[in-house]
Amino acid sequence: MTADVVVAGGGLIGLSTAWRAAQRGLSVTVVDDAAGSGASAAAAGMLAPVTEAGYAEEPLLRLGLASLQRWPGFAADVERASGLPVGLRTAGTLVVGFDDDDVRELDALHAFQRELGLAAERLTPRATRAREPSLTPRVRGGLFVAGDHSVDGRALHAALLVAARAAGVAVVPARVAALLVDGGRAAGVGLAGGGEVPAGAVVLALGAHSAGLPGVPPLPVRPVKGQILRLAGAAGLLEGTVRALVRGRHVYLVPYAGDRLVVGATTEDRGFDATVTAGAVHELLHDAIEVVPGVSELELAETLARWRPGTADNAPLLGPSGLPGLVLATGHHRNGVLLTPVTAEVVTEFLVTGELPALAAPFTADRSAPDPMRSRS
Ligand code: GLY
Repeated sequence: MTADVVVAGGGLIGLSTAWRAAQRGLSVTVVDDAAGSGASAAAAGMLAPVTEAGYAEEPLLRLGLASLQRWPGFAADVERASGLPVGLRTAGTLVVGFDDDDVRELDALHAFQRELGLAAERLTPRATRAREPSLTPRVRGGLFVAGDHSVDGRALHAALLVAARAAGVAVVPARVAALLVDGGRAAGVGLAGGGEVPAGAVVLALGAHSAGLPGVPPLPVRPVKGQILRLAGAAGLLEGTVRALVRGRHVYLVPYAGDRLVVGATTEDRGFDATVTAGAVHELLHDAIEVVPGVSELELAETLARWRPGTADNAPLLGPSGLPGLVLATGHHRNGVLLTPVTAEVVTEFLVTGELPALAAPFTADRSAPDPMRSRS
């Protein structure tokens, strides 16, 4: 039988889109040989458009804010449909700085946020530590963003899998090896080891692997390596996310699921290199312990490296691709978890009606390339 839609990739973006499309009455198959083991497994789960905002990235910021607004309803829907918790944490995000240069960067970030009308509160060192008492007394100042939250990405993936299956989504555990093209339009996917999944439309949600799939037209998506650490024994250590500037270096600490803490992340252009390096683990732990000395007592439970799907302007590729029948849901770079609800919504709308909502119009693949002098990662 030919499905209405086949989704290539069963990470957070692919699964949530499949689920929403099935809820709108489409027959949907997801193909992935290891669903949720890519960037979704590494993601810290920050829902942080304000503290992740980059200069000259206002359209991405607007999309992030729109998605953030959808998060409480989305999380409640997934939890209702699956019966599983997704670990939405709404304690806000604190950005802290260590030396004079870090504090100057905090001030510049605060000025940028105010210019854009974003809610952020500049804090004295004392007020910063009052928010998170486990911070080192050497912290020189902070910026509190009450609206930037987090979610447990792995719990979310497990819940989405249950919700999607309950809505009728079929999940095929095979590797997508090629896009099938017939009569000038996408017609399904070919599987590694043989076999095909024919469909009326194909959603490309393979993250960093989206560009290399045979049959897919050239796409500006590249792997951006991130190394990340997971620690255990952190119950009560932090209330919410802490992002720190440690003498010019960035580190973040995100508490989740009882006693767990994520510390991340490197940002490296090294292709699909999966090595966890001693240097990266050392640097991340060193900076995390500088910020929250209690981290030195925790168990280092897991280290891993995965690849963000990077684009030239750090924004996703959504909707039409230039090849009829091939629909893009990729290129989410640092914001895959944050942008999950809005991506599922706009891509599903496009699949059902053929119209891409206005909110997503700046993110089609045919947008002009950014001026490199104005962009910053
Ligand atoms: N959003 C955090 C990261 O990409 O490391």
